[in-house]
Amino acid sequence: MGPAIEVVRRSFARIAEREPALARRFYDSLFTAYPQTRALFEGSDMARQERMLRNALVAIIERLEDVPKLTPQLLELGARHVSYGVTPEMYDWVGACLLRTLADVAGEAWTPEVAEAWLEAYVAIASTMKLGALRAGAVPYRVSSSEPTSPH
Ligand code: HEM
Repeated sequence: MGPAIEVVRRSFARIAEREPALARRFYDSLFTAYPQTRALFEGSDMARQERMLRNALVAIIERLEDVPKLTPQLLELGARHVSYGVTPEMYDWVGACLLRTLADVAGEAWTPEVAEAWLEAYVAIASTMKLGALRAGAVPYRVSSSEPTSPH
């Protein structure tokens, strides 16, 4: 990922400063664009969830160059998301809404270079999490078997 990490980091620092309610805005946009995700958070304390999202973003951004250490944690995080009812396509929904929210807050600072760097970082994180879900057995991944694979 190289120099793109610095771009993401600088951009996030500016965005977080400009919009303290970043996580709130992200969830509003997600629930508006994809109302079916609302049910997953039923019974969640949204204020706590917003803090968690912010902390998760900060933790990931701080360790982007430390991918070997980050990977096992992301695999586990992805595996846990299966039990939250998260399906693979939802990562695209979240990615689209997250990047849109970041772009809206960043305004003119959202240059093609910044957009590209964020996209690269999100795809790297989301793919690792989805791989973690796969390994945890969310998707049957034995290609050929004499026994039929259960869908659950
Ligand atoms: C970059 C991708 C993502 C990151 C970094 C992330 C991060 C987190 C973290 C740190 C937690 C706290 C619980 C834990 O550590 O297991 C969490 C919970 C959760 N996430 Fe994610 N998440 C991501 C993608 C998604 C997606 C695509 C969805 C689908 C809408 C989603 C829905 C949830 C739900 C429903 C919970 C549990 C809420 C609760 O306990 O009340 N997340 N996420």
